[in-house]
Formats: sequence, structure tokens, C-alpha cells
Amino acid sequence: MGEQNRETFGSRMGFIFAAAGSAVGLGNIWRFPYLVGMYGGAAFLLIYVLFILIIGIVCFIAEVSLGRYTKQSNVGAFKAIKPSWAPVGLIGIIAGFMILSFYSVVGGWTIYYFFRAIVGFGFADPSASANLFGGFISHPLYPVLLHALFMGITIWIVYKGVQDGIEKYSNIMMPALFVVIIILAIRSLTLPGGEAGLAFYLKPDFSKLTGESLLAALGQVFFSLSLGMGSILTYGSYLNKQENIPFVSTVVPIMDTLVAFLAGLVIFPAVFAYGFEPGQGGGLAFVTLPAVFSEMPAGNIFGAAFFFLLFLAALTSAISLLEPVVAYMIEEHAWERKKATLIMGAIIFTVGIAASLSNGIWSGFTLAGKNFFDFLDYVSGNILLPVSGMLTAIFVAWVWGSKNALKEATNDGTINFSWGNLWANVLIKYVAPILIAIVFLSSVGIVKF
Ligand code: TRP
Repeated sequence: MGEQNRETFGSRMGFIFAAAGSAVGLGNIWRFPYLVGMYGGAAFLLIYVLFILIIGIVCFIAEVSLGRYTKQSNVGAFKAIKPSWAPVGLIGIIAGFMILSFYSVVGGWTIYYFFRAIVGFGFADPSASANLFGGFISHPLYPVLLHALFMGITIWIVYKGVQDGIEKYSNIMMPALFVVIIILAIRSLTLPGGEAGLAFYLKPDFSKLTGESLLAALGQVFFSLSLGMGSILTYGSYLNKQENIPFVSTVVPIMDTLVAFLAGLVIFPAVFAYGFEPGQGGGLAFVTLPAVFSEMPAGNIFGAAFFFLLFLAALTSAISLLEPVVAYMIEEHAWERKKATLIMGAIIFTVGIAASLSNGIWSGFTLAGKNFFDFLDYVSGNILLPVSGMLTAIFVAWVWGSKNALKEATNDGTINFSWGNLWANVLIKYVAPILIAIVFLSSVGIVKF
């Protein structure tokens, strides 16, 4: 695609909605609460918010600036500045592949739960919710078919291109999702026995923090903000030269964090009220929420609305995962958009089949003690994203140069970026990369606290 006719977002709101649509997704409502539950509750939440503020927003600004400056997606952006750094972009492309393959499986779960909610969960005993979930995800056929449907819709939207694809579908669901989550939080917070869950979520016990949980929090920052694989970079490349990068790069992470925080307020009181296990892993949200819907007036309407909105949120995120992979094939290998979307989408779909089956008939096959699904989730989220995020920060600060990056971020100094110098001289140069490195070392036990 030539530079002159590269598609751009029609308006600032177009970019904010698309970036927020990318960020807000299953990461907020499915992945974040299960990590909080597994890695220490409130202490994890606190570290997470801290990392959002000093690493997430900092790296967000770097990615958007790099994308807009080079007008390239992941690999091309690195190449445009220094060709030898192209492999960093490739790490991101690989991460995107891995993430979308299991993400689409979970996207399929939201479709099942949408229909199941319409019928009504109506559990007399909350433990029935765990049985429903376990039975469904281990089924050899249904979750695979719904994964096919989810991936098919994702492919179809990316196939149609940026302007009339992403933008249109990103505009609708955020405010609605917000409202429904707040209503659910009120229901959950008023459940008898929910206080213990609130304490777990909001009263930190730092003895629970380990190097492993710090890494999980860091990985989740990248996962939830869509950083480290080129989603935000690629969207940045479609951003107009007049837009205010520091502003949009702060608004989106704040919205994203708010949604995740609210999801925890829905889930943890209910987890404790119903006696579920907070550290159970990836089933947490899908087991807990239906139990809540069972016990609220018009629970099937709220349930259906919730899972429909979650499906849309997952879809806008999935689009942003596929787009950089497709853009890479278009820009670096001169493929047509249609061919790139169909072929890459088909490969990701195939890997996702294996991920889905690993929750059932293929669960005997493990890698590093995890089934294939959890392995993809762990390696992409906790290793590839932080590594490529760290290398991207180093690249922007030291190879491209943080002065140049600041110039791009402030539209040649014409935009007020009050902490711009702090960002350029301290945060992106030292704080972000060094902190990421320390978290890595602590997770493998080299640095101890
Ligand atoms: N951020 C999305 C979520 O929370 C998922 C996602 C979209 C993503 N693009 C990404 C994760 C890029 C990592 C990298 O659901």
C-alpha cells in the first residue's frame, strides 16, 4: 500500500474507540480476574495498577509514536528505522499468532454462554456452574465449532479493511458494556458472604507476591493494553498526524484498567459468596458469572446482554490481533489483503483447534506441565509480550532516539505533553526497560525481594 493512500482513522474518536476496542476484551474480564485469583488478590491488583502507570502508559506512547512516524506495522516500523531490529517485530507477530489461537477459542465460549444465558442458567446449586463449564470446554466438537464461528467473523471483518471494518465495529459496545458491568458489580457486592471476596480483592497481603506473580502482572499489563505485538503500533500507523498521542495513550489505558477493576468487583465477592476456588485458573469468570445470573432478577436478560457485549469486546480485540499479522504479510511479503487474511486466519484457526481440544480429549499432552491451551497463554502473555515490549522500549529510546520519539509524540512540540521530558529522558529510557528486566530476573529467581 503506498503512503499516500494508506488508510487512516476518520477521527480521533475513531482511533480511541478502535484502540480501546483492542484493549478491552477477554483480557479484562476473563484473564485479569483469574490471574488476580491465582497470584495473590489485592497485592497483585496493586502491582498491576503500578505497572500500568509506570510501564503500560509509557510503552503505549512509544508504540503509537513509532507506528505513526513510520506508517508501518510491526516489522516494517522497526525496519524503517534500523533494519537489523526487524526480528523484534517478528517476536510480536509470533505472539499475535499464539494469542489469537487461544483467544478465539475463548471467544467461542462467549457465544455458547450467550445462548446458554438466554435459556437461563437457573442453577439451584452454584457447583452446577463448574460442571457446565467443565463439560462444555472439554467437548470435542462444540467449542471447536464456536471457535470456527468466532474466527470466521474476525477474518471477515479484517478482510474488509481498516476504515469500514474496525472503526465501525469498535464504536458500539463500550458504554453498554460499562453499564452492564456496573449493574453486575452491585448485584455481586450485595451477595451475603461477599465481603470476604472484597477483602481478598482490595486488602493487600504482600507475602503472597512472588517473582512469578510479578511477571504475571507485567505480562497482563501488555496483554490487556494490547502492547508488545504491534496491535497498538499498527493502529498508530493509521493515526492522523494532527492527533494528540499523549492524550489518547493515557485515556485508553485508564479506561481499560477501569473495566478490569470493575470485572474484579463483580467476580470476587461472588467467588467467595458461592465458595468457589479463586485460584482455579481460566474457568474463574465463566464459572462465577452464571452463578450470579442465576440469582438475580431478569438474570437471563442481564446474562445474555453481558455475554453478547463480552463477545463484541472480544471480537474488536481479535480484529486487532489479526490485523498486524495481516499487515505484516501485506507490507513485507507483498500479499494481497484478502489472501493474507484468509491464509493467516486459517493457520491461526488450526492452531486454535489444538488449543481447544487440549481442554478435553488432548489434555494428556502437556508442555512444561501445562496443556497446550495454557501453554500458549503462558508463553505468549508472560514471556513473548514482555520481551518484545522491553525491546521495543529500548528500540524507541536508544535506537530511534527518545528525542525523536518525543518530537513525534508531541507533533513537533506543538502539543502540550506535561511530563514529556520525564517520559523521554527517564521513563522510556531507563525505568520501563530496567523494570521489565528486573521482573524477569525475579521470576526465574535471580533477583530476590
Ligand atoms: N488486549 C486484548 C484483551 O485484553 C487482547 C489483545 C488484543 C492483545 N491485541 C493484543 C493482547 C495484542 C496482546 C497483544 O482482551
